[in-house]
Amino acid sequence: MKKALLLSLTLAAASLMQAQETAAVRFANRVYSLSGKPFMHKLVCEGCEVERIEKLPEGLQLLSRPNYKYLYGVAPKAGKYTYTVHLSNGQQQNVTLVVQDELPQPTPFMGILTWNAFDEHISNDIILKISDALVNFGLRDAGYRYMCIDDKWAEHDRKEGHLNPVSSKFPDLKKLTDSVHSKGLKIGIYSDAGDYTCSGAQPGSYSMERTDATDFVNWGFDLLKYDFCNAIGGDTPAEAELAYHSMGRALDNAMTSAGKNPNDFLFYMCEWGGRKPWEWAANTGASCWRATADTRDYWSDTTYNGGVLQNIGVYKEIWPYTGVNRWNDADMLVVGLHGTGYSSNDGGSKESPKPGLTQDEYRTNFALWCMWSSPLTLSNNITNLDGKPNSLTGKEVTNTLYQEDLDIIRNADLIALDQDPLGQCAEPVIDHPEYIVFQKDLANGDVAFSITNLSGNEKQISLDFSTLSALQKGKEYSVKDLWNGKTDNYNSNSTFTATVPVHGTAVYRMTLKK
Ligand code: GLA
Repeated sequence: MKKALLLSLTLAAASLMQAQETAAVRFANRVYSLSGKPFMHKLVCEGCEVERIEKLPEGLQLLSRPNYKYLYGVAPKAGKYTYTVHLSNGQQQNVTLVVQDELPQPTPFMGILTWNAFDEHISNDIILKISDALVNFGLRDAGYRYMCIDDKWAEHDRKEGHLNPVSSKFPDLKKLTDSVHSKGLKIGIYSDAGDYTCSGAQPGSYSMERTDATDFVNWGFDLLKYDFCNAIGGDTPAEAELAYHSMGRALDNAMTSAGKNPNDFLFYMCEWGGRKPWEWAANTGASCWRATADTRDYWSDTTYNGGVLQNIGVYKEIWPYTGVNRWNDADMLVVGLHGTGYSSNDGGSKESPKPGLTQDEYRTNFALWCMWSSPLTLSNNITNLDGKPNSLTGKEVTNTLYQEDLDIIRNADLIALDQDPLGQCAEPVIDHPEYIVFQKDLANGDVAFSITNLSGNEKQISLDFSTLSALQKGKEYSVKDLWNGKTDNYNSNSTFTATVPVHGTAVYRMTLKK
C-alpha cells in the first residue's frame, strides 16, 4: 500500500516536472497603465492553463478566450501592484503592474529616422529640411513628431572625454534642437551600448553613460536610440540588460539633474530581438525596443532576416508581450524608399537600385506595423513630393516621395489602430500558408482585423467571423474598410470575403451596432 502511494506520488511529481518543462509561458511580467484607463494583459501559456490570479488589483477581472486567459478592466489609482499568476502545471509567475498618471510612452512613438535614406549624408540643414517636410506635408499633425538622427553624427574619437559632433555636419547641436522644437517637433539622437556604433564611425557609450546621457539631455534631445554593436560588456541577455540599464539610469538621472521630467525622454533600445528583449527590456528604463533585424526594402530577405515576411514570423510569436509603455518595435517603415535606401537596399546600389517593395507590399508594411502597435518611424526622404523642387540638393532628386506613399503614411484610420490606448499587439488567428489573419483589441471595444495575402496570386479570402475571438457572438457590427473608408454591416456569426492583391493586406475596424 505504502509502496503504491510512493509510486503514484513519484509519477505525479515526474509528470508535473514534464508539464513544467513543456509548458511555455508567454506573457510580460512588468506591465504599465495610466490610472483610470482601460487595461488588458493577455496571459498566454502553451501547454498549461491560468488557474487563478492572486492579489488581483481592484477594477480588473480574469476573462477567458479559447486559447488564453486575460486580465481586463480599468486600471486602479497610481501605484505599484504585484499579482501572481497561478498555472495548472504548478508554476506561478509574479507580474508587476506600474500605474502612473503619466508615462514616457503611453502610445508608440512616431517619427522619422535618417538611416535608410541618408546614411552618412546627414547634417544640420538636412535635419531642418526633413523637419519642415514633416510639418508641411501634415505628417507632424498626423502624429510623426520625433525627428531622429541615426548613426554617423559624431567624429571617430571623443574630445576631452565627450562625443564630438562632426562640426561640418552639426556645428551647433543645441541650436539645432531648439529650432526643431520651435517647429512643434521633438528630436532624437543615436548611440550604442558597446565601444563603437554599428557603422564603427563613432564611439559608443559603454562606460561613458553618465557623460553621454548628460550631454544628450543638455543638448536638448528628447529620445535616444541605443544600439548593441561591439558590445564589449558581453552579449548574453543578462549582460545586455545590465548595459541598457546603465544607460536607462543615466538618462533618468541626467533629466532629473537638469530639472526636467524623466518621463519626457524616450529610451529606445535597439538590440534587434536576438536576446528576447520583450522578456526583460522593461526593467532597463526603456519604453520600446527593437524586436527584429534591420528591415530591408524587400518582401522576403533570408540573408538579413529583414523582409516584411520575416517580421510577420517574429510578431506571430511575440504578440502577447506588447503593452502600454512597452512596445515591440518592428523597425523603420520602408514605405516610399522604392529601392533607393542604403543598407535597406543591400544587394542593390544607389546607381542601380533594386525596385523595393510594390505599393501593395508597402501597404502591408504600414498596416501590419499599425496592427502590431509598433512605433512608426518613416525612413524615406520625405522632402521630394513627386521629385519637385524642394529636393535636398536643389538639382538631384533621390528617394522621390509619391502622393500614394503619403496616402499610406497619413492614413488616419490606420494610425488610430497603431495609437490605440489599450496598447495591444494584434494576434494571429489564422496562420495559413497562403494568408495570415490578425485580430486586435481596441480600447473602446472595437476589434480590428487584417488579412494578408502571402501567395503570389490575387486571392479571394473568406473569413468565418467566429474565428475572431474578440467579437461578441451573434451581434451586429459595422465593418469599415480602412483603405477606402467603405462601411458594411455584418453579424458576427457570418462569413466575410475580401479580394486581396499579391502580398497586400485588407484591414478593417469592427464596431458593435447600438
Ligand atoms: C544598426 C541598427 C540600424 C542603424 C544602424 C546604424 O544596424 O539596427 O537601425 O541604426 O545600426 O549603423
